[in-house]
Order: sequence, then structure tokens, then C-alpha cells
Amino acid sequence: MPGYPVLPEGLAYGGDYNPEQWPEEVWREDVRLMREAGVNLVTVGVFNWGLIEPEEGEFDFTRLDRILDLLHSAGVYADLATPTSSPPTWFRRRYPGSRLVDREGHVLGGGSRHSFCPSSPDYAAASERIVTALAERYAGHPALAMWHVHNEYGWANAHCYCPTSAEAFRAWLRDRYGDVGALNAAWGTTFWGLTYGSFEEVEPPVAAPVGVIPGLQLDFMRFSVDAHIACFRRERDTIRRFSDLPVTTNFMIPNCKPMDYWRWAGEVDVVANDHYLDSSRAEPHIELAMAADLSRSLAGGRPWMLMEHSTGAVNWQPRNLAKRPGEMRRNTLAHVARGSDSAMFFQWRASRYGAEKFHSAMVPHAGTGSRIWRDVVALGADLRKLAEVRGARVTAEVALVWDWESYWALELEWRPSSDLRFRERMEAYYEALWREHVTVDFVHPSADLSPYRLVVAPSSYLLGEEPAKNLHRYVEAGGHLLVSYFSGIVDENDTIHAGPYPGALREVLGVTVEEFHPLREDETVTLEPFPATGRIWSERVRLAGARAVHEFADGPDAGHPAVTRHDLGAGSAWYVSTALDPGTGLRDLLGRVLDHAGVSRPRGLPDTLELVRRGDHLFLINHAETPATVPGVTGTGVFDGAAYDGSATVPAGGVVVVRTQAPPS
Ligand code: GLA
Repeated sequence: MPGYPVLPEGLAYGGDYNPEQWPEEVWREDVRLMREAGVNLVTVGVFNWGLIEPEEGEFDFTRLDRILDLLHSAGVYADLATPTSSPPTWFRRRYPGSRLVDREGHVLGGGSRHSFCPSSPDYAAASERIVTALAERYAGHPALAMWHVHNEYGWANAHCYCPTSAEAFRAWLRDRYGDVGALNAAWGTTFWGLTYGSFEEVEPPVAAPVGVIPGLQLDFMRFSVDAHIACFRRERDTIRRFSDLPVTTNFMIPNCKPMDYWRWAGEVDVVANDHYLDSSRAEPHIELAMAADLSRSLAGGRPWMLMEHSTGAVNWQPRNLAKRPGEMRRNTLAHVARGSDSAMFFQWRASRYGAEKFHSAMVPHAGTGSRIWRDVVALGADLRKLAEVRGARVTAEVALVWDWESYWALELEWRPSSDLRFRERMEAYYEALWREHVTVDFVHPSADLSPYRLVVAPSSYLLGEEPAKNLHRYVEAGGHLLVSYFSGIVDENDTIHAGPYPGALREVLGVTVEEFHPLREDETVTLEPFPATGRIWSERVRLAGARAVHEFADGPDAGHPAVTRHDLGAGSAWYVSTALDPGTGLRDLLGRVLDHAGVSRPRGLPDTLELVRRGDHLFLINHAETPATVPGVTGTGVFDGAAYDGSATVPAGGVVVVRTQAPPS
């Protein structure tokens, strides 16, 4: 099977290259500048369908031929994309049945990309034809390093509600349940008397009065993931008839909620991710680190590809902040630290027209006399020096449970509190661990947990019986588990596990929950003995084998357990029944749980210093405006050859990468 790395040596550096927006003389300048910056891989052809196939069945490869030849002559490899995320205008006119329909029943317009139904047989036939033509023509082209199928599956068309999708959904349900009785049992349709007499009666969950059958909604989300994966497989398998090069598609981890990337991960030869900073966050690099750790985890620990990020501002947020000096470098190197073997951008040259003309690029509108260009050239030099990290692994002692199905289920309507948000809890725990300089993996709850000293489940509302048993076995065998409130509540159909909450986790946690007491919007509760506060949630916990570590001092559950610990087998299971304040409460508790689990980590460093070990390399990324000194560092600086013998000082906003002999104490 084709695999990674895609390039003969070093890390991949480059971006989306859209030369069709420019006259040919600019292309020659492009490749000259690519050489200057050390670019060695560009993604081409992503939105070329209407240019390559201007009329149905008539192909014109002249421009793409010239571009690939030019890249090859310049020593730049191509990541050749299939253009199927943006069907041509003739396709839409000729096949109106392929148009995307939203929940409200609107047929969405053209003049945009992603405007098609993933279940459309006409789309399938047309995309297969263009992919076959591309693969046949370019499989042997010497510029090619890999294939980039489509662009961001599910970006704007994750769910389609057209009649074709409805029919495909019913076929999917028949396949899953066999007979309608099994579907009724799974979805609990005796509730409100919504029992289906046949599969023909099932509609997708279009806009309806609130309270739509939760099992129906979850299955429609699963079906939609499968519909997009089927599109990917069709293209990938077509390419494989002609080429042995690696095939991937660019994910949007973790920012495309509808795509269950655990289901996607096994389909690609290399996991590739697009990541953009969220300008509304005070410290967006923490979310970046989370995305990178998730990408590595989806890749099963193998190196992955950062397929897109930005040199500066994007154009699609309410306020598109430019990156501050040094920020692009810190961002890129954080992705590499966390396992990426590439640093790719959207895009090479900023567009003058079209929807994305205010998006930053490697060559900005200001040209090469700009800070961005100088930084791009300098980054290329840094990445060449970092070539030695290629293929190296990141190992983690702590894992966070992340399940897209739980994400979907938690955020269906009519939950005990609208403050119960999956990302809110995941990010609270991730951030606390990031600030403790603990690198984490993400795991599906049914994964092999034996490599980890500690497993944290910040938001596992939906948890099937088998995954719950997996957690139980992990603890009995000596693992340590930390679970946050409203976890283990329902099974895969959103049916509450029988008996008291938290059904699936009752035994491992050694507690039951008698009643939920969600808090008002600004309400807080206090915990003792340490001075911590809780928000969002309180509940009446009853001990059933566990012991109380902290109690609520006030609020609806004053005098009752707030944090518990259950020693079970050779391990322990901790339970936290409120949203501990991130400053003291959560960090303090996590510190104690990490110590109890024997998780090693550096102490006494500023919590704005990002520290990651990748193979023999220690990445120190300073996000603060003052220098930081890290003790216990011995080795050689990769960028400047500096010798470190006992400590390393990282300049304000700077990055030091040390080839080490021994880990920092
Ligand atoms: C996505 C897409 C690109 C571009 C960028 C802009 O990642 O794949 O084509 O639209 O967003 O940030």
C-alpha cells in the first residue's frame, strides 16, 4: 500500500497553487520564488474541473500539462488534486437533481463550491469521469508526489435533504436494521407513537417542530458521513487503478463537527489537516495544539500532513486578525512538533479576485517587499534544518477520550442545560493539560488504552456498553481514569442506560447520581477543602464504592460529594461533577491526578511555554512576551547550533528546537 513520506527527503513545504488565476509570465516568477523560499510541494488543480472539462466529456489539459512540466523543471513536487469539490456550471444546469437541499428545503444556489448532493448518481458519474481522465493522464508524471482527493469533504454540504438523499438514507437504514421493527426498537418510537410501519415512511430529519426522534437524527449524521466517505472511496479507488502514489484528502480537524474523522482516518494513506487560527480566542495556539494532537491521534501516531494553514489573516471570520511578528513561525513549528511532516499553506499567491481575495498567502498582495514574504523565506530555511525530525514520533502518557458521536448527541435539542457543550469541556481539560506541559493523545473510547497512565473523559455523554467496559478493564488493569459530569448517560441510540446515572460508568466510578442540578448562567458553587469554584453543573452524587475527595460547600448539593475517587483493581477512577474553574480548581485537581497516575512532566515552567518532545527533539515554543528559561536541557540547537548544557532560554515569542540526549527533568 502506498504510504508516507511523500517526498524523497525532508519536510514538505508549500501550499495551494492556483496559477490559473494568473497569466503565464507570473508562473515563471512563481517557480523562481518557490525556489527562493525552499518550497518543494504544491497542491494544484483543486478547483479546476470547469477549466479541464469546459463541456461535458470534452477535456482540455493544456494548462495543467504546462504547469506540471514547469513545476517539475523547477524541482517542485505536485500534490495533484481532483477538482470534484467545485463542479462546473454546466453540471449544475444539466443535472438539477444533483443540487444541494438544506434542512428547510431550500435548494441551494450555484456560483459557489460544494454545491452538490453527495448521494447524487449524476455527481458520482461525472466525478468518476474527470478523476479517471486525470489519473490516466498524470499517473506517470514525474512532478507528482501524491494525490489530493476533493477538498474538505463536508465543508458546506455535510447534510443534504433532497429526495435522492432521502432514498439513499432509507437504503442505508434497511442495510443497518434489516427490518423496520429493529429500527423502531433502536429509536424508541413508541414515544409519541411515532412507530414506523415501513422504511418508506422514514424521512430525513428536515426542519420540524422541536423534539425530533434523537435516534433518527444520529443515524442521519452517520449516514451522511458514509455518503461522503463513499464519494472519497470512489475517487481513491479510481486513482489506484493507475497510480501507486499516496492518496489523501484534507480534513478540518476538529472544526467540522459533522465529519466523524475516526471513521475517515482509515481511508487515507496519510492523514492531512487544514487548520486556521480562531481570531476570537485570546490564545488561539492552544486550540491549534489540540487540532494537531487530534490529527496525530487520527493518524495512529504516524506522521501526518498539515495541508493548509495561513501566513496571516483569513477572510471568513467576523474579524480577521493578521498574525503578529513570529506568530506564523510559532504556529507552523507547533504543528511540526506535534507530528506533522509538512507545512503547507492556503495559498501560494494571494488572489486578486473571487471570494477569497482578502485571504493571506505566501506571496501577499504587498509582494516580496513584505514581512510575510521575508518570514516565508525564513521559515523555509528553518524547515530545511528540521528535516531530521521527519518520521519521528510523539509519545503521550495521557489520552483524552474524543468521540464525534458523543459530540453530536450531546448537542441535540432538549438537554438538561444548554451550557452542556462538548468542545467547552474538551477544551477546558485540554488547556489545563497544555498549561501543565503534558502532551496528550486523543482516543476513541473503544481504543486500546494500555499505553496510557491516565485517560481523561471530559465529555462522554454517549457511551456504548462495550466502550464503557473497555474503560472499566483499563482501570482494573492499573489505569487511571478521570471523568467529567454528564458522561456515560446514553447508548448509541441516545437511550438512557437503565438504572441510576451515570449508567455506563456507574461501576467503574463507584458512584450514582440521583438528580441533576444545572446552575443558572452566572451562578457558581464552592468546593471544599480547596478553594475552587464550579460553574454550569452540580448534581447529587451518592457514593457507591468511591470516596469523596471534595464536597460542595454551597449550592444545591452543599454537603455532598463534588469530586470522588474510586480505587478499583490496580487503578483508580475519579469523577468531577462540576465545571471547575480553569485557574485553580481544574489545574490543581489535574495536578494531583497526574501525580497519582505517575505522569512525568516538567515543573515550574511558565504556562505560556509550549513544550513538546518529538523523537530526540525537544520543541520549546514561547508564547509570552518575556524570555523563558527551561532547566534540564542538554543538547544542540537545531536552528543555530547552540550548545545547551543544563538549560535553554527561549526568547520572547521565539522557538528553540533542541536535539537532545536526555529528556528535561
Ligand atoms: C479551506 C479551503 C481552502 C480555502 C481556505 C481559506 O481550508 O480548503 O480552499 O478556502 O479554507 O481559509
